[in-house]
Amino acid sequence: MPTPRPSETLAHPTRRPAIVTGASSGIGLAAAVHLASLGHPVVLGARRTDICEAAAQKITDAGGEAIAVPLDVTDARSVEEFTAAAEAAVGPVEILVSSAGDVLPSSTIGTDPETFRHQMEVNLLGVHRLVTLVVPAMVERQRGDVVFISSDVVSRPRPNMSSYVTAKWGLEGLIHAMRMEMEGTGVRVSTVRPGPTVTGMGAGWDLEVVAPLLEEWNRWGLMRHDGYLSADGVAAAVAAIVTAPRGTHLAAIDVLPEAPVRPRSNEPVDRARETGAN
Ligand SMILES: NC(=O)c1ccc[n+]([C@@H]2O[C@H](COP(=O)([O-])OP(=O)(O)OC[C@H]3O[C@@H](n4cnc5c(N)ncnc54)[C@H](OP(=O)(O)O)[C@@H]3O)[C@@H](O)[C@H]2O)c1
Repeated sequence: MPTPRPSETLAHPTRRPAIVTGASSGIGLAAAVHLASLGHPVVLGARRTDICEAAAQKITDAGGEAIAVPLDVTDARSVEEFTAAAEAAVGPVEILVSSAGDVLPSSTIGTDPETFRHQMEVNLLGVHRLVTLVVPAMVERQRGDVVFISSDVVSRPRPNMSSYVTAKWGLEGLIHAMRMEMEGTGVRVSTVRPGPTVTGMGAGWDLEVVAPLLEEWNRWGLMRHDGYLSADGVAAAVAAIVTAPRGTHLAAIDVLPEAPVRPRSNEPVDRARETGAN
């Protein structure tokens, strides 16, 4: 049996191309821009190619390397074409950031089965499609980072997001199994679990949809405070994972919005000052 090589003696290659799904908006776009600023060649994938192209152009103008490639994760052929075009443009993929996702404000019995199935396609099955095409070559090369954007709905499920919660729980099942399968291959499998983040997600929902949703989440004690994350804040967690040196595996990061700082009303009362004594 060959002696395992201590991973701390391994180093990242100097050129580490990254592919990012869901790169036309929110966390995926912020991750692509952040990785490009660190010198990674970046492939931006999403259906809205015009937005990805504009972002890639901006990265290139700033001295980085980026291209946009159309991607619909629900379409097997599109995923194949995306992966092939990405590799042809930037070379072997060292980093996969899976951020494409969608959410519906809909209950279990209020979601028709076809819509529910489509949500699984976007949030779970599409991720698996991509993994089967990109990760085997990483295993061959004995290195690579796979970063999955999951959600805090895994630790704190929310009502009236049934298909989303189901898909993200399924995704975390995939991640857990895959992380064990990849142990000792050199491929690091990591999870980023953001809390509420200001992005395109839910941005188009009407107040009549949002108000009862928030009321229900309040009823279940799921709204600790009204702080929100920025997409850049979540992208920083992605960057921390992929820039960790070989020998270090940041397996999972929960990214929560920092609570608004409370007034100092709960500080111990200064009795002497209150009574005027000295
Ligand atoms: N926002 C939050 O509060 C929050 C919290 C926890 C986790 N997350 C997770 O963060 C990830 C990114 O979401 P976001 O908040 O950044 O939302 P967003 O701004 O709406 O971005 C979603 C991205 O997914 C892409 N996408 C959707 N369907 C796709 C498809 N069929 N094929 C390829 N790309 C597709 C969209 O691009 P196109 O429409 O151009 O295809 C878009 O780029 C998701 O996995 C989400 O579950 C978000």
